[in-house]
Amino acid sequence: MTPSLIERYRNRLPVSASTPVVSLGEGSTPLLPAPRLADSAGVRELWLKWEASNPTGSYKDRGMTVAVSRALERGAEAVLCASTGNTAASAAAYAARAGLQAVVLTPEGAVSGAKLAQTRMLGATVLEVRGSFDDALRAAQELADRGKHVLVNSLNPDRREGQKTAVFEVVEELGGPPDAFVLPYGGGGNTASYAQALAELGLEVPLVSVEASDRRRTLATAIRIGEPAHASSVESSGARVLDADDDALVDAWRRLAEEEGLFCEPSSAAGLVAVLRGDVAGERLVVTITGHGLKDPAAADRYAPPPVAVPADPEAIVSASAARKR
Ligand code: F0G
Repeated sequence: MTPSLIERYRNRLPVSASTPVVSLGEGSTPLLPAPRLADSAGVRELWLKWEASNPTGSYKDRGMTVAVSRALERGAEAVLCASTGNTAASAAAYAARAGLQAVVLTPEGAVSGAKLAQTRMLGATVLEVRGSFDDALRAAQELADRGKHVLVNSLNPDRREGQKTAVFEVVEELGGPPDAFVLPYGGGGNTASYAQALAELGLEVPLVSVEASDRRRTLATAIRIGEPAHASSVESSGARVLDADDDALVDAWRRLAEEEGLFCEPSSAAGLVAVLRGDVAGERLVVTITGHGLKDPAAADRYAPPPVAVPADPEAIVSASAARKR
């Protein structure tokens, strides 16, 4: 049986023998070499931490297993989050697994339809807030302060405890630290988690966190966040913050798919932008790819080459495919 993330890292997580483990088989995600992209970036080794292979399709599950297990242990009846979509789906899944209600607040009109469908299907109460993600998060915090719901955004330290395990896996699997970890920066919770992991391991490895240049309007809706909740801990962690505009994001996102076979959502390619631009020093780099491409099929539909209609005839198929060959 696949070990749960909590079982794999029990001694480094805030759980005890009596914590009920709510798991969907998260963590232990692939660490994949990316030789073509490494070549074009002029990097000896480029590794991709493929977090899309978590049960709900994003890295959020690492933190959610810990947050929901702890909420259940404390006798919670409901969990609550504000989300651009991935936290929502993850909270919904783990709450369903635990038999808890999940209430999710999403910014109206700014979340991919696939993430909403996933979250609705998992039985969460989905409330679309008239406002931005930042407005939804403020409302969620106020409501959580009333004490009836456990907030499972990454402001909840249990979430960050779970998320730090990605760094443990990488260091174990490479047999030592890479020269840098590179990841997207939305609210900054994951960057703060990685910094926490490095501090716990006593490692001083550069952390590079890449945000959208136009935070409030980026096409990468997962990281469309105006006021990152973890800005001050990202700053004090010493992480280097870089930015990527939408053209660069789309380019890196498409190259990852076409050259390495990994289909992620646009936000997830943010770290790769910095590496392809040559902004990250080192011979062995690890870039975290945070969420699956199927999370945002509408974005893919906008940029991927359209299918070509052909008659059911071998000659026509040969000539159409020759015309498309790269
Ligand atoms: N990548 C993906 C796929 C995300 O969904 C998010 C954040 C990030 C990166 C940024 O990570 O916030 O820890 O800096 N998604 C949140 C959500 C906001 O609600 O799903 P961060």
